[in-house]
Amino acid sequence: MSLKKVHDEQPKEFKFSNENSKKAEEILKKYPENNKKSAVMPFLYLAQRQNNNWIPLAAMKYIANFLSMPYISVYEVATFYTMYNLAPVGKHFIQVCTTTPCLIRGADKIVKLCKEKISPKQNELSKSGNCSWMEVECLGACVSAPMIQINDDYYEDLDEKSTKNILDSLIEDKPLKPGSYRGRANTSPEKKQTINGENHA
Ligand code: FES
Repeated sequence: MSLKKVHDEQPKEFKFSNENSKKAEEILKKYPENNKKSAVMPFLYLAQRQNNNWIPLAAMKYIANFLSMPYISVYEVATFYTMYNLAPVGKHFIQVCTTTPCLIRGADKIVKLCKEKISPKQNELSKSGNCSWMEVECLGACVSAPMIQINDDYYEDLDEKSTKNILDSLIEDKPLKPGSYRGRANTSPEKKQTINGENHA
């Protein structure tokens, strides 16, 4: 997304909804009064949730005020962690793991499909306007490589066919279910297997 577009999308104001204000007060109780700035990360997360999965500059200023800390310190935290989105993302936000275990199991093919079906560039909205994608480092599900995260859910054990089906379902706004696409329950073996005579399936 161009800087101009990001600038155009920035709302002038931000404040927590009533529900999130209550959550913010609860979060603050976890920290000593003189260290309330420690709540900056959960506050950024709340702001992202409230604002269609991205954090505008106005939210960072609001949080800085709320926690009595410099705006630049909030900005530093928000820009350091890739889990915080600083520009609009799709309603269906696809994160493709391209770290080594996923890569050697075909993550490059998933990236290719995202470029074809969603957008040639990362962090750009699809023609349908409801999806965007980006490459990320290991999402901690290497045992189910290759995998992608869509919003809060993991889609695992993918291949080209299953990825195509998943991406098509997002474009049509009818997302398929998360989980293993090789039919595994969590990370259990695919077929009944025994170790020393015991069934571990
Ligand atoms: S390498 Fe992809 S989840 Fe760990």
